Amino acid sequence: MSRVTVITGASGGIGEELAYCAAKAERKLVLVARSSDKLKTVAEKIAALGAPAPEIVALDLADPKSGEMLVSALAQKNLKVFELINNAGYGLAGPVEQLDRADQVGMVDLNMRALTDLTLRFLPEIIAANGGVMNVASTAAFQPGPNMAIYYASKAYVLSFSEAIWFELRGRARVTCLCPGPTPTGFSARAKKDGKLRLMNLSMTSAAFVASRGWERFQRGQRVVVPGVMNEIAATLAPLSPKALVLWLASRLSR
Ligand SMILES: NC(=O)c1ccc[n+]([C@@H]2O[C@H](COP(=O)([O-])OP(=O)(O)OC[C@H]3O[C@@H](n4cnc5c(N)ncnc54)[C@H](OP(=O)(O)O)[C@@H]3O)[C@@H](O)[C@H]2O)c1
Repeated sequence: MSRVTVITGASGGIGEELAYCAAKAERKLVLVARSSDKLKTVAEKIAALGAPAPEIVALDLADPKSGEMLVSALAQKNLKVFELINNAGYGLAGPVEQLDRADQVGMVDLNMRALTDLTLRFLPEIIAANGGVMNVASTAAFQPGPNMAIYYASKAYVLSFSEAIWFELRGRARVTCLCPGPTPTGFSARAKKDGKLRLMNLSMTSAAFVASRGWERFQRGQRVVVPGVMNEIAATLAPLSPKALVLWLASRLSR
């Protein structure tokens, strides 16, 4: 029986970079996303570094049966979870009444339901191994976001859930909520159907930086990690600022 680090959304972007960080730390990996070809490419790159070849599991985590499917895929390979990184997620930009209803509900399924389901399913194994859970939220978690309402709300849930279980599990398992700011990945193209979401240059950090900062602080058991000074300032000021101003600013960012 081997103990593994499971990373969701590892076929690209921040999740792929997190996979490289975990591989360098000599973790045995299980990479999850929908695109098996992209997962295979990431696994091959990791094996080429001389690390153990990761297992890949191609799953649509928005499917309510996906948690059960992942449990049985790991059981078949005799793998137990030591660390779980819930990174898969997406956003959609636009007013709620104009965006597709199923796409918006899909965000709830992936960003919140799947993250919660996997955490609850694997927690007993993680606690038994004194391992950890890292959930990827966003700086969007610190305020409501008109024109990206469900995305911001979903990330507020991820932050609240993660901080609460950090407290419940202290001394038994590490819990970290990673809150990146704007990061150039596939995220902005998926968020905006007609062109890309404008990312604020001032607070932009690379996926590699976000991942290495997140991984390092996760190993220390830090509760919340906001990579980048500008993002840290924004996350600190948002909850202290007048709500009307915060709503206006957030609505401008997601136009
Ligand atoms: N980029 C940013 O500006 C930014 C800022 C703050 C927070 N974040 C958060 O960071 C996390 C990673 O995003 P990213 O920026 O790296 O975006 P990305 O490049 O679009 O990567 C998203 C990952 O999630 C996977 N995924 C998407 N839908 C899935 C599904 N239904 N089932 C399983 N896997 C799925 C994708 O793989 P497949 O398409 O192969 O399934 C991909 O591996 C997300 O939670 C996002 O909200 C991003």
